[in-house]
Amino acid sequence: MKWKTRVTELLGCEYPILQGAMSRLGNWKFAASVSEAGACGCLTAAISLTPEKLREDIRRCREATSKPFEVNLTVGMCPDIDEMLDVCLEEGVEVIETSAFTADSYGRRIKEAGRKWIHKTATVKHALHAEKQGADAVILVGLEGAGIKNISQLPTMTTIAWAARQIKVPIIAAGGIGDAHTFLAALALGAEGVMMGTAFLATKEGPISQHHKEKMVRAVPDDPQLRNVVMPGSGTEDYRETMEKGVAPAIDRDDYDTESQSMSFAVAYVDRIPTIKEVIEGITRPRLPRSPIQPCQPIGSGIQGLSPLPHRQTRIRRSNVTYGCVVLHYLFIAEIVPTQQVQEAAAIAGGRLQPTKGTGNVLIVGPAGH
Ligand SMILES: Cc1cc2nc3c(=O)[nH]c(=O)nc-3n(C[C@H](O)[C@H](O)[C@H](O)COP(=O)(O)O)c2cc1C
Repeated sequence: MKWKTRVTELLGCEYPILQGAMSRLGNWKFAASVSEAGACGCLTAAISLTPEKLREDIRRCREATSKPFEVNLTVGMCPDIDEMLDVCLEEGVEVIETSAFTADSYGRRIKEAGRKWIHKTATVKHALHAEKQGADAVILVGLEGAGIKNISQLPTMTTIAWAARQIKVPIIAAGGIGDAHTFLAALALGAEGVMMGTAFLATKEGPISQHHKEKMVRAVPDDPQLRNVVMPGSGTEDYRETMEKGVAPAIDRDDYDTESQSMSFAVAYVDRIPTIKEVIEGITRPRLPRSPIQPCQPIGSGIQGLSPLPHRQTRIRRSNVTYGCVVLHYLFIAEIVPTQQVQEAAAIAGGRLQPTKGTGNVLIVGPAGH
């Protein structure tokens, strides 16, 4: 199946999935592996430490993959950021991502050089500002995510749905995304792509020790220790301090292997250590969902053109009422099914079409007998 959103068009990659920047970990090799698997890898400039090393790393990444990747400049963390940007422009990096704090002057330079600028932030307010400054897309990280923090940050679901009402450039959702359900949910909320950090780290190619990967497999999102790292001491001074500082302690520390660090609530979906390709396939070619949604007989499989599609026929039990439910929200993104067929499927499902603002995503939900 071919995925097509404004994000795949902007990045030139196969899937609307980006790897998150990672200070100390986001090297060229990891970025190239993610790109090779069809998502967009991200070389974190901060890891190169000097502009000349960044130049070398960009070249090595290019040698390792002919597919597109981006370079991240984390404001406040990337050393010699002006010179690092010079190198990106000189080396012809097509997509440059800025993150964390205000990046207006870097964004201006990226745009003046005719390149694509994506800005990552934790708040809708700052995303709107970046859009005004000319960003080609914005990444919004919800509270569930690792890394970037802000005192006004909201959970991913609220952030993306709220942003989709206001922002016109493509939105990339981040924070707690790691399986088909969270990926599709982000698209249904109005995002046109997702960014994942934790889920990509816990892969065979992940640039962390096997010991830490196994810890991620064992980790659960409601572990108070993990919660305090991802959402530090909510409601306390500690929380305020971390949020105002702009980063969670996870990315400030060296001891990645000794604590529940460098991971987010996305550990909820880490139950083994797959390859990057397997992660992407598990997300983009989902199997039937797990409880509370149970599989039932296909409703629309007789419709020409629908059977090979990744639509899912499900039955949901709510208050003793059984609903047939067909979830087709990525048919329009893929642009492979004419509207009429989707409407036929909706009619058969007895459901209704709910266009999601901005993306043309469609979610068909409704009673379809028993
Ligand atoms: C170990 C680690 C280091 C990170 N370092 C950075 C960074 O330097 N700059 C940045 O913008 N984001 C950084 N992030 C955030 C990710 O790029 C991404 O936004 C986040 O992981 C998304 O949330 P998720 O982990 O729930 O997928 C880091 C994340 C992790 C896990």
